[in-house]
Amino acid sequence: MTSITRRDFLKIIKQILAATGLTALFSPVVAFFYPPSLEETPADPVLVGAVDDIPQGEALTVAFGRYPALVINTEQGLRAYSAVCTHFACLVDWDAGLEQIVCPCHEGYFEPLEGGVISGPPPSPLESIPLEIVDGEIYIGGAS
Ligand code: FES
Repeated sequence: MTSITRRDFLKIIKQILAATGLTALFSPVVAFFYPPSLEETPADPVLVGAVDDIPQGEALTVAFGRYPALVINTEQGLRAYSAVCTHFACLVDWDAGLEQIVCPCHEGYFEPLEGGVISGPPPSPLESIPLEIVDGEIYIGGAS
C-alpha cells in the first residue's frame, strides 16, 4: 500500500478544487482562517509627514501596518496612538471641538495626552505609539 504525505494530500485537494471551480468558493473561507501575513506593527518607523502638516489642536489618521494610527498635535506636543478602540476594535477619531479622541461605536472617549479612557465602555487606554521628529518630519513606531 502506498502512503501519501500531508503535502501530497493537500496538493490533490487543491487540484480537485481548481478543476471543479470550487477554489473561488473556498478562497474566502481559507483567507478567513489563514489570513495573509500583514504586519501588525511595522518594524521600521513610518513617516507621517511634516510637523507643519498637523496644526495644534488637529490630528491626522495615517496607515500604520495593518491598522491606522492617530497622530494628534496637542498643546503639550505631538502624540500618536493606535486608532483601534480597546473595546471592540472600532476605529477612533479626533474630535477637535471636544479635544478628545472619540470612538463612534459605543461612545467611548479618550483623553489625548495619555490615551486614557474618559468615559464609555473601553476597558483600557489606547495603545501609545512612539513618536520622533527628525528634520521637521514626524515618524511613528520603530525601535525608537
Ligand atoms: S468599540 Fe469603541 S467604544 Fe465600543
